[in-house]
Amino acid sequence: MTSWLIKGANLLGRETVDVLIDDGTVREVGAIGARPGSRVVDADGQVLLPGLVDLHTHLREPGREDAETVASGSRAAALGGYTAVCAMANTDPVADTAGVVEQVYSLGQAAGYVDVQPIGAVTVGLAGQRLAELGAMASSAAKVRVFSDDGHCVSDARLMRRALEYVKAFDGVIAQHAQEPSLTAGAQLHEGAVAAKLGLTGWPAVAEEAIIARDALLAGHVGSRLHVCHVSTAGSVDILRWAKSSGWNVTAEVCPHHLLLTDALATTYDPVYKVNPPLRTQSDVDALRAGLAEGVIDIVATDHAPHTTEDKECEWAAAPPGMLGLETALGVVGETMVATGLIDWDGVAERMSRRPARIAGLDRHGHDPAPGVTANLTLVDPGAAWTVDPAALSGPSRNTPFRGITLSSKVTTTFFNGQPTVLEGALTEGSKR
Ligand code: DOR
Ligand code: ZN
Repeated sequence: MTSWLIKGANLLGRETVDVLIDDGTVREVGAIGARPGSRVVDADGQVLLPGLVDLHTHLREPGREDAETVASGSRAAALGGYTAVCAMANTDPVADTAGVVEQVYSLGQAAGYVDVQPIGAVTVGLAGQRLAELGAMASSAAKVRVFSDDGHCVSDARLMRRALEYVKAFDGVIAQHAQEPSLTAGAQLHEGAVAAKLGLTGWPAVAEEAIIARDALLAGHVGSRLHVCHVSTAGSVDILRWAKSSGWNVTAEVCPHHLLLTDALATTYDPVYKVNPPLRTQSDVDALRAGLAEGVIDIVATDHAPHTTEDKECEWAAAPPGMLGLETALGVVGETMVATGLIDWDGVAERMSRRPARIAGLDRHGHDPAPGVTANLTLVDPGAAWTVDPAALSGPSRNTPFRGITLSSKVTTTFFNGQPTVLEGALTEGSKR
C-alpha cells in the first residue's frame, strides 16, 4: 500500500502540520522531513479535517438505480469530503430486514469509496404499523445502530415508544422524520406568506415541532436515544434546547439547504426547491444557524435525495421532494457558518465528522489525525471559489438547489482508509480493500 505524506496542511484551521500515512494509518503528525518512498500531497493553505460523516444519505439502491446507486452515491460522497455515509432505508425493497441491509453494506464495501453504513427501517415497509426486525438488523453483518422510517414519520406514539425501548438494548438510536401527518395532508411548501400568495397548501411548522416535543418526552421517559432528522424551524430549536436542558438523550441535525435557502424560492415554481421538510423563512434560517453554532443542533447532515430529471422536472405539485447534497455540503457550511464567523473549522469538524460518527457508532471515523488513527481525512481549500454546475456533478441526478451559487471552499482531497479517493479535486480509483 502506498505511503503518503501530506505537507503543510492547516490542521483544523490552526497550526501547520505534516501528516505521514502508512498502511491505512496515521503514523506521525508534526514537522516531518522528506520520506523516500512516500508520495507527497502539497497541502499548503489547505485545511485538514477528519473525514466527513453523513448521517442522512439516500442512495436509492435497491430499486431506483436510475437516480443513484450505492457506487455513484459513494463517489459523490468522496468528492464532497466524506469517508462514511449512513444510507437511508426508504429503498425498494425497503431496508427492513437483515438481508437488505447486508446487501447495501456489501455494495458499499465493493464500491470502496466510503464506508456505507445502512440505516434500518423502524417499521415494516415504512408503513408505520408493525416494528421491523430491529434486532436481526442490529446483529447482522451490517451492524445497524440507526433506525429510521425517513420520508415517513413514525407517527403512532405507542410504536415510537416500543422502538425506543427495543433499540436501548444495543445502544441504538431512532432517527425520526418529525412530521405529524394529519397536519400536512396535501402540503406543498412552508405554511406562510409565500404559500398564501401562491395559493398552495402549506406545511405548518407545528407539524414538525409537535412530533419533536412528543418524541423528546418519549425518549426521556424510556431513557433511550432519539435523533431528530432535518430540523427546519425556529420553534424546533427551542424545543430541542428544552429537551437537552432536561437531560434527555436527544440529538438533531440540520441540512445545508435549510441553512441557506428560503421559501421565497418557491415563487419560481421550480420543483428543484421542493423538499421535505420544506424551505422555511429567513428567521428560521437565522435560528437554525444560531442553534447549530450553540450546539442545540448537533450536526449537519445532507439529506442527499437524488431524483431523476424525468421525475423531478414536472409541475410543482407532482414533483417528489428532495435535493442533492453530498458534493455541496461542505461549501454551503463554509459559506453559512464559517464565513459568517459563527463557527471555525474545528467547529465544522465537530458538526460534520466527530459528532455524526459518535451518534452512528462509526468508531473508525471522526478522529483528528494522530498516530495510530485510521487515516480517514479531508483537505479543504478555503479560498477556491467555485460555482455549482448541475452538469458537473458526478451522479446520474441533477437536482441541486445550489446551481449557479458560488461557494468559497472546496474539497480537494479525501483519504479513505489511508488512500486518496479524491486527489486534486478528482476521483481516483478508490481504495478497494
Ligand atoms: O425531501 C425529502 N426527500 N425528504 C425526505 O424525507 C425523503 C427524501 C427522499 O427520499 O427523496
Ligand atoms: Zn426525512
